[in-house]
Amino acid sequence: MRRAIFPGSFDPPTNGHLDIIKRSQPLFDEIIISILNNPDKNPLFSVGERCDMIREILPSVTNGNCTITVDSFSGLTVDFAKKTGATAIVRGIRAVSDYEYELRMALMNRRLEPSVETVFLMADEEYSYVSSTLMKQVFMLGGRVAGLIPELVEDRMRQKLGTTR
Ligand code: PNS
Repeated sequence: MRRAIFPGSFDPPTNGHLDIIKRSQPLFDEIIISILNNPDKNPLFSVGERCDMIREILPSVTNGNCTITVDSFSGLTVDFAKKTGATAIVRGIRAVSDYEYELRMALMNRRLEPSVETVFLMADEEYSYVSSTLMKQVFMLGGRVAGLIPELVEDRMRQKLGTTR
């Protein structure tokens, strides 16, 4: 059983995240999308709302025999990986600018738990500039984010921010 976790904030999930989920499916039997519960970050969506959004979107990306589940965690990512029996951590890399941060995390995680390997996947270049932070900022300022986040997420942002945009 090849089980991986795909940890992140997912506040909100973007099409870049979905691209990574699609690409990771052929590599694993099970992927647990793992939402970090980090209230310090002052998130737009609660962990529960993020879990629900991803669960609702998942049918549009699931393909093949890989089982995809959604869960939340607090504390160290490697501890959650161990707890769930995962042997890999999936992370997406969009551009060279992501590399240094991701390398530091991967090496720290390896030091903390050598039995868990980080697997980097390259997101499609059309999402190379897409981040949750940028999507929230552009949306809040009235810019178009269609095609970069799932429609369901755009609807939830509209509801949350009380705008008719
Ligand atoms: O989507 P993000 O915000 O880039 O995800 C970052 C995340 C959640 C993967 C990272 O902050 C993390 O793993 N946090 C949990 C705490 C931890 O394990 N820290 C040590 C990693 S070096």
